[in-house]
Amino acid sequence: MSYSLQGVSALVAADRRRDVPLHRQVYEGYRAAILSGKLQPGQPVPSSREFAVDHGISRFPVLHAYSQLIAEGYFETRPGAGTYIASNLPERLMSVSAESQPERNGGGGLRNVSRRSSLYPRIELNRASRIWGPFRVHQPAFEHFPFRIWSSLINRHSRNPGARVIHDIDPMGSRRFREAICDYLRSSRAVHCDPEQIMVVSGSQQALDITARVLLDSGDSVWVEEPGYKLGLAAFEAAGCRLIPVPVDNDGMNIAVGIGLKEDARAALVTPSHQYPLGSTMSASRRMQLLDWAQSCGSWIIEDDYDSEFRYESRPIASLQGMDTHARVIYIGTFSKVLFPSIRVGYIVIPADLVERFAAVRLAMDIFPPYLHQEVLTDFMVEGHFGAHVRKMRQVYKERRRALVDSIDKEFKGKLGIHGAEAGMHLAVKLPEGYSDTEIAARAAEDGLSIYTISQYYRGTPALQGFVLGFGSTYVEEMPAAVGKLRAAIRLRD
Ligand SMILES: Cc1ncc(COP(=O)(O)O)c(C=O)c1O
Repeated sequence: MSYSLQGVSALVAADRRRDVPLHRQVYEGYRAAILSGKLQPGQPVPSSREFAVDHGISRFPVLHAYSQLIAEGYFETRPGAGTYIASNLPERLMSVSAESQPERNGGGGLRNVSRRSSLYPRIELNRASRIWGPFRVHQPAFEHFPFRIWSSLINRHSRNPGARVIHDIDPMGSRRFREAICDYLRSSRAVHCDPEQIMVVSGSQQALDITARVLLDSGDSVWVEEPGYKLGLAAFEAAGCRLIPVPVDNDGMNIAVGIGLKEDARAALVTPSHQYPLGSTMSASRRMQLLDWAQSCGSWIIEDDYDSEFRYESRPIASLQGMDTHARVIYIGTFSKVLFPSIRVGYIVIPADLVERFAAVRLAMDIFPPYLHQEVLTDFMVEGHFGAHVRKMRQVYKERRRALVDSIDKEFKGKLGIHGAEAGMHLAVKLPEGYSDTEIAARAAEDGLSIYTISQYYRGTPALQGFVLGFGSTYVEEMPAAVGKLRAAIRLRD
């Protein structure tokens, strides 16, 4: 071999003792030498055999690396003459050093993004959502989840899935799963439905997003609860809707006020079973007013029924959808509370005449839901594990809720109003006049207690100050100490 080709070989290290595979070392070595200008366009390189001999390694990794460099345009072969550094490497490529990173903003130039993307609320990446601890909202008692049964069902459906599930591309979701959901909703939630009307989604959030895309245009007005579930609103903000905050009291959303504010709103988004965050249950008369309004104005009602499985003093409240005789309600449910949030499975019950529209939107979003959890959840429901789990969790949460209410009564002696404790996995406490929930939450955080303020859920000036206290993941024995910390942070005056 000529001296200059040996010089090329020496520029590229290939060391068997390193963790990096040899073919990768050769590829990266050549690429770095080209990008740094040590190897020039048109320059010959040793054949794979020569390179392997020079380095005392097998020829296979060298062949592998060479074919990659040819495929990516760094090398070219000339028939009968060998392999060369490509003669037409762009100038721009040559000026980039191997170590240089792309600039975060691309180094200038137009970088237009859609106006629509700026409608989404700003988010804080890596925020402390992973915090586990007393009073965290949306956290279940996951230590009671039947993981053994769950994993055996996962095994069952991953070992031999069969052609049907591998190629089930129905944007509505698996038929068996929709039948199981339908049976459950009819018997437990008095929902009027057929499996054809059920769409499986990745949690209520996707349900809200699809619903907004199907029903609403930019500029349409939507009644939303004041205070209300913030994240859910993002879907409507992104659709360019005008949100009309309608106050909530002990009977749920005040429909008369909504009509006064904007009678011809296109939709209302409500949590009638257990209002988030205040916890009220929408009264029968408000439900009738809401349904009448929707029918007379040709509007839609979006019912977010996120945690209705857990009711402690009475039987579960029937859904609003079940009272609707004009198919004006889009009913949304989720497995986030009843099982756990990261399962990302929920469903929409769609009025029959809108099913095709919803399916078309869904197809454009993600085609259809992933099969594994659908199959597993179907068996989980059909074989009775779901019902058993709900019954067990109702008991666990009932005890945790009792412990929380007792500790609050003991520590605060009636000075904090407790609301919405009859259902779900959280309750609301209202502060007396003159206290700021934001200041208190900041003090509590210094003491390692993370709590959700009520004021953050208002779009306008908060009419109430207080906290949403989750009890799902807080042990009964932890409750007195946690409430003690809350009391210390509040610094209640006599
Ligand atoms: C009012 C409300 N809706 C829906 C959800 C659940 O959303 P997802 O099903 O997307 O987890 C939550 C919180 O978990 C909620 O508080």
